[in-house]
Amino acid sequence: MNINDELTVTIEKLSNLGTGIARVDGFVIFVENACPQDELKIKITKLNKNYANAKIVEILKPSPHRVEPFCALQKVCGACQLQFIDYDYQLELKRQIVEDAMRSIGGINLEIPEPVASPEIKAYRHKVQYPVAQTKVSKRILAGYYKNNSHEIVNIKHCPIQPEICDKIVEFIRVKCFDFGISGYNEKKHAGDLRHIVLRVSAATGKVLVTLVVNSKKVFPCLKDFCNEIFAEFKEVSGVCVNFNTKNTNVILGEVTECVCGKDFIKEKLLDKTFHIGANTFFQVNPKSAENIFSYVKTYIKDNFENPTILDAYAGIATFGISISDVAGKVVSVEENSEAIEKAREVLDLSDIKNVELHCADTAKFCKKIMRKFDAIILDPPRKGCTKESLDEILRLSKSTIIYVSCNPATLARDLKYLCEKGCSVKSIQPFDMFCHTYHIENVAIIQV
Ligand SMILES: C[S@@+](CC[C@H](N)C(=O)[O-])C[C@H]1O[C@@H](n2cnc3c(N)ncnc32)[C@H](O)[C@@H]1O
Repeated sequence: MNINDELTVTIEKLSNLGTGIARVDGFVIFVENACPQDELKIKITKLNKNYANAKIVEILKPSPHRVEPFCALQKVCGACQLQFIDYDYQLELKRQIVEDAMRSIGGINLEIPEPVASPEIKAYRHKVQYPVAQTKVSKRILAGYYKNNSHEIVNIKHCPIQPEICDKIVEFIRVKCFDFGISGYNEKKHAGDLRHIVLRVSAATGKVLVTLVVNSKKVFPCLKDFCNEIFAEFKEVSGVCVNFNTKNTNVILGEVTECVCGKDFIKEKLLDKTFHIGANTFFQVNPKSAENIFSYVKTYIKDNFENPTILDAYAGIATFGISISDVAGKVVSVEENSEAIEKAREVLDLSDIKNVELHCADTAKFCKKIMRKFDAIILDPPRKGCTKESLDEILRLSKSTIIYVSCNPATLARDLKYLCEKGCSVKSIQPFDMFCHTYHIENVAIIQV
């Protein structure tokens, strides 16, 4: 096999990164934008020792699961890799991704049930994070997601997976930036003003928190005027913040955020609880789907424990801790981001919840200081999963049950393998589709210690 070879293949399955997998004499070929059961003419674009990459030259016989994407930009924008596949089949493919990861990485042979579907498959995203640039000659502002595997911005005027108000706010910023003398960021030269537009939208109230990430250490006069203009223009905007990021980095948010006008948070309602979400606090990207997860975890705790003590680790704004507080005796929530802890504290004070204790700390370091055990421990780490050090501590503090919530099947499988080696058993894994039209999938694993 050589680069540029053209071959005819049938796609067998989807990889964990959402590319089609075909085999020629056992040799694996990853094909972009392909769906299982597609018969394709492909061209080899990259050849490695154990696998090749290829692109589609012609669809000879489409998979019966192919559909017309509802977004005109699906082929160029890197955000919704699976939008050309019907939604029910997306769920089945994600189920297979989880099952494969558990078997191949975790050594766990569990039958994985179908993911719980997202209640909404359009306009479901709570958070928009557009990188910003400007055109070379006319200096027009560009804002949108990156093209697949590149840092080239697709200038998105309408994104159907986000609430419509986001398009309007982004367009206003695009046009008005120029009038206010604010330039778009040039990544290569590490120059220019506006690096990212970050919007957080409340599914409950429709209110939006706008954050402008700038390549500056302070709010300069025209930026302040610009923030006020955005705030005045949209009744939906609850506040406009500026985040300062002067580092030459891909990390979107810098450490410091200043609220220039309005409030520095939006309110979100999940189950019967209200939360405060700030510019730099984690919140699940799909609130309606998140509500299904909170309800699942709450029901599990209610059905299996009486007045339990719960450790809520990697707590964010204590979403799990607060959601389950009325079926728990006591909850201890630990989170390393101080803004998230501040926002959780506001909610506890306002809603008079007395049995949730908040700690701003690293999970492993915090657990090391604790001597008492917990009836159940909720773990919801970032994509990279837990360290062995934190898993060891969690095991030490656990009486019987760990509820592991994860957005990355590969790191979940790795961590479950480690816990099983230490004597735990995995009782169940339930996927939830939080990220419709992408290859990402959220899981809740129930582990018996
Ligand atoms: C996937 S989010 C989950 C947040 C929350 N459970 C929720 O559902 O909204 C992971 C959280 O872990 C926090 N985090 C990351 N590393 C941490 C650590 N070592 N110790 C404590 N918190 C950490 C992040 O700041 C983030 O808020």
